[in-house]
Amino acid sequence: MKDLFTDYNLSGLQLSNRIVMAPMTRSRAVDTIPNDETALYYGQRASAGLIVSEGSQVSSQGVGYLFTPGIHTDEQAAGWRKVTQAVHEEDGKIFSQLWHVGRLSHTSLHENGASPVGPTSKTAENTTSFAYDEKGKPGPVQTSEPRPLLTDEIKSIVQDFAKAAAKAIDAGFDGVEIHGANGYLIEQFINAGVNTRDDQYGGTIEGRLRLALEVVDAVIAQVGRERVGIRISPFNRIFDMPAFDGEQETWIKLARELSTRNLAYVHISNRDALIANEDGKAFLKQFRESYAGTLILAGLYTKEEGSGISAKA
Ligand SMILES: Cc1cc2nc3c(=O)[nH]c(=O)nc-3n(C[C@H](O)[C@H](O)[C@H](O)COP(=O)(O)O)c2cc1C
Repeated sequence: MKDLFTDYNLSGLQLSNRIVMAPMTRSRAVDTIPNDETALYYGQRASAGLIVSEGSQVSSQGVGYLFTPGIHTDEQAAGWRKVTQAVHEEDGKIFSQLWHVGRLSHTSLHENGASPVGPTSKTAENTTSFAYDEKGKPGPVQTSEPRPLLTDEIKSIVQDFAKAAAKAIDAGFDGVEIHGANGYLIEQFINAGVNTRDDQYGGTIEGRLRLALEVVDAVIAQVGRERVGIRISPFNRIFDMPAFDGEQETWIKLARELSTRNLAYVHISNRDALIANEDGKAFLKQFRESYAGTLILAGLYTKEEGSGISAKA
């Protein structure tokens, strides 16, 4: 019987077990550059079958919290190289999580006090950015009003993800995970209650999924489909992510589209919320039937539950 400690072939990458360390923001990169302590931290956790790094911004525009690392400059890549070496020395495997927070940010984090960007001018509620307050002191502050992106700007954000993916592979990561979950930029475009656009990146299901799929395709073109995963959180209600018409259809369409891309994996981050009711359980089943590749689930797993699901894979 296969249990959590059975090895796993992830698109050609041999994992020594089926336990994945979830991406977890550490807020220790004072100057956005991972350092020796970051390498020590990840190296100590290399016995996981796969580590997904903390979210790392793909551009200076993509930052939403002080002290999170980036993966868009050579200095950041050099810092990450220490991390990947430390993990590989212990025979571990590590993907880099590529992050753009979209509207969940604050003007104090951006050059010349620029506004954060998103698919809307609606400010996010019930959440904070970790930024500088009025006295210049680091702390939680209300996110700023976002500036809706111009259509042409979206292409350059897609390219930022692709360039960051290339930097991550150069820095020795075994692959990249596109952060499409938890209310950040990609999910802001997918959610019809947040995306107020009337161009090709809004409105219909195809329009709202366009950014996600363009990012996936650009990253695949850059580093190869077997090195690309994506994290999503269907029916996410954190912060002020609202329910919207056609929500199930939207996510199932995404599952089918991702299935045709033959990625390394899809990672669902809010399994605990989904299994809390019958609709969520039925949705997960339908998602599984609609997406043919490796599916990673996160959220309040016990060892027994994890073993049970792993045995079926
Ligand atoms: C402190 C903290 C930081 C997190 N940072 C990230 C992150 O950078 N990227 C991400 O996708 N999820 C992040 N998450 C969510 C976790 O990856 C995960 O989805 C969540 O902990 C559910 O899994 P669990 O119940 O097994 O802990 C974070 C969660 C916590 C508590």
